[in-house]
Amino acid sequence: MMRWTILFGILGLSWHVKCEEGLKYDNHSLVRLIPKTEQQLTAVHQLPDAGEMEVLKRSRMVNDSFDILVPEMKKVYMEDFAKEHGMDFHVKEDNYGRSFAPVQRSGRRRSNQRLNIFGYNSFDTINAFLEQTAAAHPGLAQVQPLKRSSQGRQLKLMKISTNPGANNPIIFVDAGIHAREWAAPAMAVYLIHRLTSDPAAREEELNGVDWYILPNVNPDGYEFTRYSRGNRLWRKTRSRSSARSDCFGVDGNRNYGFKWGVSGVSRDPCNQETYAGPEPFSEPETRMVRDVMMENAKRLKLYVSLHSYGNYLVYPWGYTGASLPDDWRKLDTLAHKVSKAIVGAGGSPLKVLSAGHWYPAAGGSDDYAYGVVGVPYSYTMELTDGYEFQLPAKMLPKLLPQFYEGFKEFARNIRSEFGTVRSRDAE
Ligand SMILES: *[C@@H]1O[C@H](CO)[C@@H](O)[C@H](O)[C@H]1NC(C)=O
Ligand SMILES: *[C@@H]1O[C@H](CO)[C@@H](O)[C@H](O)[C@H]1NC(C)=O
Ligand SMILES: [Zn+2]
Repeated sequence: MMRWTILFGILGLSWHVKCEEGLKYDNHSLVRLIPKTEQQLTAVHQLPDAGEMEVLKRSRMVNDSFDILVPEMKKVYMEDFAKEHGMDFHVKEDNYGRSFAPVQRSGRRRSNQRLNIFGYNSFDTINAFLEQTAAAHPGLAQVQPLKRSSQGRQLKLMKISTNPGANNPIIFVDAGIHAREWAAPAMAVYLIHRLTSDPAAREEELNGVDWYILPNVNPDGYEFTRYSRGNRLWRKTRSRSSARSDCFGVDGNRNYGFKWGVSGVSRDPCNQETYAGPEPFSEPETRMVRDVMMENAKRLKLYVSLHSYGNYLVYPWGYTGASLPDDWRKLDTLAHKVSKAIVGAGGSPLKVLSAGHWYPAAGGSDDYAYGVVGVPYSYTMELTDGYEFQLPAKMLPKLLPQFYEGFKEFARNIRSEFGTVRSRDAE
């Protein structure tokens, strides 16, 4: 019954939004600006972040691209803007909407599809994979059902531990709060796959460290990006707003209850990008992540929120660029080690800095974990660069194992700083 309700809900919505959403980006160009000075950086951040033009990625430092989708009629405006500020104007792609790959973009929900480790799987397929993994490794992997998303999808937390009674430090990884960032859930699925199927992981990554992984925080948004009449570039949740019944969703990464709303947010429910919600934790999805953190606060030593794109590994504070946490050097040092490990595996270096340095945005999960829950190491990881949100699946077999080396480095450090000596009982 639930299934059908959801299905008809989605179909109904899609008819409603078809005109505005389905073909929305066909005549848009992806414009890329590279600010080369701090003045230019300040200038690009003053561009409107939504409405006719949609910012896909903000520059977080000098020489870091600012990517914006521009409708045909605004191209001249953008060209003038670039000229005025002395920046190169680069059109990366015209007719952007037509570049959306038609992969698996069907409204029909097929729950029995086999999971492709190096693919972009449906939410149902990922959930089924969690259950299969737990069934195949009863002493190692366990599924904890959480609550339901706005549209009724059941979230499930994967817990992986070689010794659940040992009070090990916990690494908590979540992914997919931003719906269009498909590389993030793909990485979370790969993490689960490696941790449970690679015997070496039991000796290393899982030695004295437990892993809790929530592979898709925002399934309503995710399925909307997969649906042909949805919107491949949808970012927010899909909750209904009481303020504006024709606008949906909240930016989950602006919805956490720490310094909520103080910077980098929109108050407009119709803003497609950064609407912070009517109040902190208005979304069931962010409440579930909060609850996982709070229930495990004592043992939680590392939190990583997976996003894409840009190849960044950023740490608190996100809400401000004016100050850093007292122990920011520890956060910075570990992030550089992780980047180095990824480079060692042939990957691209991650840009390491505090999240709010050039782009303050309040209400993020990383600030909440660090500032409220007291998680000593808290990061947002922006996976990959060069393909915006449309990383071709054929690149996953190369990239995911490279990022995995970064997670091994995380685990080594968490174990050496917080690892418990194995008790007699455990042996
Ligand atoms: C895109 O532009 C073409 C040519 O100007 C036009 O025929 C078409 O209707 C436009 N598509 C949308 C979705 O606006
Ligand atoms: C940015 O790139 C330009 C070359 O394109 C270089 O001259 C400049 O030093 C770079 N600035 C920084 C801060 O990396
Ligand atoms: Zn994101």
